Amino acid sequence: MERFTIDSDAIAASRSRAASAAEAGRGAELFSRVEVGDGLDDEGIATLLLADDVATERLLALARRTPDPPHLETFSPLYLSNECDAECAMCGMRRGNRHLVRETADEKTIDDQLAILHRRGLRGVALVTGEYHFGTKRRAMLDLARRALETALEIGFRHVLLNVGSLDVGEHEEMLENVPRRPDGRLARHVTTSTFQETYHEDRYRRFIGANPVNPRSDFERRLQNFDRATDAGMTSANPGVLLGLNPDVAFELLALLAHVRHLQRRGNVVYVSLPRLRKATGTEHRGGVSDDALYRVAALLGIGVPDARIVISTRETPEVQRRLLPVIHVLTPGSPGVAPYTETGARFDLRASQFKVLDERPIEEILGELLAEGARIECYEPRAVEP
Ligand code: SAH
Ligand code: TRP
Ligand code: SF4
Repeated sequence: MERFTIDSDAIAASRSRAASAAEAGRGAELFSRVEVGDGLDDEGIATLLLADDVATERLLALARRTPDPPHLETFSPLYLSNECDAECAMCGMRRGNRHLVRETADEKTIDDQLAILHRRGLRGVALVTGEYHFGTKRRAMLDLARRALETALEIGFRHVLLNVGSLDVGEHEEMLENVPRRPDGRLARHVTTSTFQETYHEDRYRRFIGANPVNPRSDFERRLQNFDRATDAGMTSANPGVLLGLNPDVAFELLALLAHVRHLQRRGNVVYVSLPRLRKATGTEHRGGVSDDALYRVAALLGIGVPDARIVISTRETPEVQRRLLPVIHVLTPGSPGVAPYTETGARFDLRASQFKVLDERPIEEILGELLAEGARIECYEPRAVEP
């Protein structure tokens, strides 16, 4: 089947042509052409990213596409476990992080957590685990995720994202075994594969994610092609992403991401694009992420380059940054990266047992309620009417 590959040399060449154009001051002229409706190729998009003379405010204004008040979508993460066999240097869950308190939820706890999120109005949920070596633990974790997927669909979640690492061909089929299908074999329910490449730069990938073949995430290409295997297995919704902060060359990442999104759309997928920024994690050296400004520019230019993709921002970002991004994104995802953290009214945010630190710990109801009060429409959120 059709598999996505990265031509790093071509991307690097395009990136340096974009940098020269930006330096030569061609950004402003390019921007005015786009403003009057001229098309823009990916190199042009990278040029605008790098053009100092094109203000971020203008890029955000051009990318603005949600109506005001906005039309958004939401989901919350549910971490089933914080154990992991991989060694991603930036992640609190990495194997060998002695400082993280390890937890794995049991089936009953997971069902309770899904019921809580559902009662709190959420109709979208991302199921999160680590990534595991082949063997008993992997089978147990994937089984836990499969059960959670089935329960979530059964109790009325309309969108379930699988954030469980890369799966092999047979594993995608197993995971989806009991999900109803359409006559053409595609899934009849909205289930999304979430596997962020983190960085499309192979050397950076090796540096942060690892290169040791026993590490279940070290295979760059296997990770890159996870969506292709999922598409072959009948899935039609994909959520790639770049972890901003791993590669200072954001233009390279943007070019690769645009190519990946287009590939996935060509294969018939709805594409959600996540732009997480690096955060502090227990027992983990923190290198800092990219600047607010770089995040705004990337989000705006993604919106301009692939207008049909749905940009996802999480509560890793502060309320101020979320607000700034609101006009150009489609999905705001609030929640906690702790294992089974939810209560009827809030969540545990215990950094010692969490993947990383989020900057917005307000209850989901407050975050989304504020937007509803301003007239926003939010898909996959149905809060109960407040008692008079
Ligand atoms: N084990 C799964 C699920 C990971 S959670 C997998 O690796 O696919 C989803 C995302 O959290 C990761 O893909 C990564 O982009 C992000 N992440 C990891 N460490 C982080 C950190 N320190 N700060 C912010 N995000 C982080
Ligand atoms: N890591 C997943 C993601 O970025 C899970 C997630 C979604 C998340 N929303 C979140 C983690 C909010 C922490 C806070 O998509
Ligand atoms: Fe494990 Fe995912 Fe963290 Fe990597 S990012 S260490 S695979 S949980």
